[in-house]
Amino acid sequence: MGIRIRDGLFSLETKNSLYQMKTDEEGLLNHVYYGRKTTDDMSYLNRRIDRAFSGNPYDRQDDRSYSTDTLPQEYPTGGAGDYRIPALLAEAGNGSRTCELRFESARKLQGKVKPAGLPGVRGNESTEGLEIILRDKVYGLTVHLIYYVFEEQDIIVRSVRLENTGAMTICLRKAASVSIDFACGSPRELIHFHGRHNMERNPERLSIPKGGCISAGSTRGTSSHHSNPYVILCNRNTTENEGECWGFMLMYSGNHLEETGADQMGSVRFVAGIHPETFRWKLEKGDEFQTPEAILSYSDGGLNGLSRNYHRIIRDEVIHPKWKNAEAPVLLNSWEASYFNFDKESLLNLAGEAKELGMDMLVLDDGWFGKREDDTTGLGDWTCNEKKLGCSLAELSEKIHAKGLKFGLWVEPEMISEDSDLYRSHPDWALSDPGRKPVVGRNQLVLDMSRQETQDYLYNALSDILDKVKIEYIKWDFNRSMANIYSHALPEDRQGETAHRFILGTYSLLERLLERYPDLLIEGCSGGGGRFDAGMLYYTPQIWCSDDTDAIERLEIQRGTSYGYPPCTMGAHVSACPNHQTGRTVPMKTRGIVAMSGTFGYEMNPALLTENEKTEIREQIKSFRRFRPILANGDYYRLDEIGETADFTAWMFVSPDRREALVNLVGSHVRANAAFPYIRLKGLDPDRMYRAEETGEIASGAALMYGGYTYFPLNGDYPAVQMHWVSEK
Ligand code: DGJ
Repeated sequence: MGIRIRDGLFSLETKNSLYQMKTDEEGLLNHVYYGRKTTDDMSYLNRRIDRAFSGNPYDRQDDRSYSTDTLPQEYPTGGAGDYRIPALLAEAGNGSRTCELRFESARKLQGKVKPAGLPGVRGNESTEGLEIILRDKVYGLTVHLIYYVFEEQDIIVRSVRLENTGAMTICLRKAASVSIDFACGSPRELIHFHGRHNMERNPERLSIPKGGCISAGSTRGTSSHHSNPYVILCNRNTTENEGECWGFMLMYSGNHLEETGADQMGSVRFVAGIHPETFRWKLEKGDEFQTPEAILSYSDGGLNGLSRNYHRIIRDEVIHPKWKNAEAPVLLNSWEASYFNFDKESLLNLAGEAKELGMDMLVLDDGWFGKREDDTTGLGDWTCNEKKLGCSLAELSEKIHAKGLKFGLWVEPEMISEDSDLYRSHPDWALSDPGRKPVVGRNQLVLDMSRQETQDYLYNALSDILDKVKIEYIKWDFNRSMANIYSHALPEDRQGETAHRFILGTYSLLERLLERYPDLLIEGCSGGGGRFDAGMLYYTPQIWCSDDTDAIERLEIQRGTSYGYPPCTMGAHVSACPNHQTGRTVPMKTRGIVAMSGTFGYEMNPALLTENEKTEIREQIKSFRRFRPILANGDYYRLDEIGETADFTAWMFVSPDRREALVNLVGSHVRANAAFPYIRLKGLDPDRMYRAEETGEIASGAALMYGGYTYFPLNGDYPAVQMHWVSEK
């Protein structure tokens, strides 16, 4: 049973967790518990005591133990005596900034409903949900807290809908998707994922400060390379495989903020949602605002356990079911092969090589449109530069298909170059502040996606290409951070809506295109992994993980990404050596093993390879195809701890029936007279005997998991070992 309502106590149960809230005698909705599953009423945990300087609601002044400043709350607001992090900041038309939400009603929901205008965890008609309605009587603001339970995956999905049911205009200055108070047994640490272009999603584990707050977030317009909208809270002793942890992932691709802090008594509050710095939303009488969904999960099986919950929900309920078991094409991308320098002949040569090596698709990256010879021009002019190409896109695609390959194309729809016909005819379609020169990034401006006419222009331009040219795949890029977030189409009192309306515009465009071209595979990208989030994954089942294609750097990037996102969503290619980002040379075998733990493809000019390298690539592709089921749907385990200074990185996949496992180890530092690299395998059946295909060794699951496995010391530059353990019975 997923949801129970009894005497003001609301219990949401998943397979292994319980989430509980309770209304009190004042009508305040208290958070009670989120943790390991029990069937008890846990509200005995919420004790009250008088704490000085924690004020009391007017009607409770004779009970000084009742204070919104000390009670654990479910959706805390600003202005009314709770000095911790607010989830909601609302300002009424009369200037008042005090909001007090009290319980009105609750009802169970049957069937998952997608949040209006936003991507949502999919679910189906049997998904159970709960709606709790709170209200501020003075403002006439009605707040719908929406919860859905995904029992099997140990996931709770939360969002909030705010409705102006009063007479005054209300301005939302902050409207978080999730807020949670851990009154007792609070987690003491948090892990967030910071980064930069070419090094995304690095986990950093920090102590949660008392009396302060740690903020992670982005005001760059996108979820960003710099701070992923995913945070984990955990106990001090939580490791990869043991201990409690709580995950909070926003299903959102725009500006976001995650705040964590402990109050005067050490109780932790976590709040996450759209970043308030670039957000002010006007709600006229009758208007509604819907927050993005937040995906919550609890695990007492350590960080690996939490990751597997997220991998499952993303594979099962975020990416479109069509792609779940589909075989994503092994592609050759033209970017690092030839950058902006190509024509029909060179592309057909690439296609010929790709086919000969056993690949499925050629992707034509940046530079095929407008007058684009470099990154200074052309964005917005989505018509083929036939002069440069030497033929039309349709002809190129036909010739590529004639070779037995699919064809993919790069676009960057949300951008505009000043040197473009689009800008010359619609300068006001770019985001820019009146009277100011806009900030430029990679020589380009950002198109105002909040405008319906820009969305329509792009829909028509892209449809025109997709109607005329046979294209199976689109790479959808976004190559700068936003600035000057001002829309020339919105009135001055709605400028604070531009950033969010931009994201809604992008989602709407993606939705319309996918409705019209349901078989189109879109790979998300933002200068690599600058928009790697569950919001984009709803539309784009794979996302280019990083512009850094160096396999050794990718060990960190893909490992960090794996805390929240399944490997099958991570765009990963084998690229040329010396690597274009680092100058490093890594063996082809190692590059293959690392890229295989992602979507797998190539990004190089195969004509420059030796015959031996080509043979190796053919073998790599064969083994990728063979292992694809376990790579795509297997359980994934990191075999080392965050920040461990091991000389190698190891990770493995286990098939859902636990009959086979694929174990990978890459040496990043080889030493003379070295110790035996040692790992403990995970997720196997302890009672089965497994045989390693490569060495013929036989061992039980128990031996491999409890005793572990030692390798002989590795030799050479960046060596890699892949072992396929298969059940004997
Ligand atoms: C950034 C992407 O991440 C690259 O792979 C490539 O597509 C370039 N943009 C093209 O401009």
